[in-house]
Amino acid sequence: YSLKSNNSFNLKASCSRIFFPSSLIELQQLPDLSAENFYILGEGSNTLFVESQAPIIIRPKFNGIEVSEQDDHFIVTVGAAENWHDLVCFCLEQGIYGLENLALIPGSVGAAPVQNIGAYGVEFADFCQEIQWYEFASKAMHSITKQACRFAYRDSIFKQESYNKGLITQVTFNFPKKWQANLSYAGLDMLAKESTAEQVMAKVIALRSSKLPDPKDLPNAGSFFKNPLVSELDFAHLQQKYPTIPYYPQSNGEIKLAAGWLIDQAGLKGFRHGGVGVHQHQALVLVNYDSDLGTDIISLAKYIQRKVKEKFSVSLIPEVRMITHDGESAFSSLS
Ligand code: EPU
Repeated sequence: YSLKSNNSFNLKASCSRIFFPSSLIELQQLPDLSAENFYILGEGSNTLFVESQAPIIIRPKFNGIEVSEQDDHFIVTVGAAENWHDLVCFCLEQGIYGLENLALIPGSVGAAPVQNIGAYGVEFADFCQEIQWYEFASKAMHSITKQACRFAYRDSIFKQESYNKGLITQVTFNFPKKWQANLSYAGLDMLAKESTAEQVMAKVIALRSSKLPDPKDLPNAGSFFKNPLVSELDFAHLQQKYPTIPYYPQSNGEIKLAAGWLIDQAGLKGFRHGGVGVHQHQALVLVNYDSDLGTDIISLAKYIQRKVKEKFSVSLIPEVRMITHDGESAFSSLS
């Protein structure tokens, strides 16, 4: 089964078995996965197939959107296979506001909680109420509250304790009717305070389109690395040496740096090696011009990681998930 059209890097990969469960019964009929290597795939917009052989793939196919209106909020329940951006558009058309800052993020709704997608000052967790999750061992559905999901920057329980122990079938959102535009992020701060959700969404789309390449034109998986967190002390040293370094203080005292800036300052923006390269307008995005091989992207990423480490003593960790024939691999274990 070819996965070339199921990964936004457009890499050549195939798997020997793929399952498309769309009901509880179909989930219960999946083979016993405890001894198998497998990967749960959404739309493949944050996935790098390192080898041409992929493991067993499970692609949830739960669809549907349901809205219920309460006095002061809307509850929206969405199947995991729905497209994220389509959901954002649907909500705005219904007069349900909150997701406008997250417009145009590629991928499925079911993948959004896994890494707690975020952009322009908003993250998935802000509107999540609960997640419906199918557990392989008990063969049963469980409701997981937002608190239990332990959302953090590009992280959740689904990447930690619950990793590969089940899959997300449905997401429930809570959107308060009392809405205010979130214009905290640089680039949105020039919008008027009384901007409508539609205006915020239009601006987000304009900003993203100006920096981030459309995978249909130039295959990529968005930000390749996470923005690194450093201690206050390490940051003080960096800031002394590089006074213009962008930084975002976190509530726990750590400082988040902009990986794109670090890569850019290391002289790698627009860098090209063979069929792959660093995007010209946003150094955090690696692009595939015409390669079939995931290993080309791995080599480039290793090179970037080394250069940034040499210059700033900061370790970049990929955000994108690396998949080999026997499942997911840590970047550090790849060569
Ligand atoms: N910068 C540079 N050069 C570059 C890229 C960025 O100097 O080539 C600087 C910018 O000028 C800015 C800072 O770095 O001062 C941050 O850049 P930007 O606002 O473009 O955002 P980012 O930190 O690179 C993050 C998310 C994006 C999200 C944007 C907007 C991560 C890993 N990435 O990128 O998410 O859209 O903020 O909120 O957190 C994704 O995860 O795939 C993704 C695209």
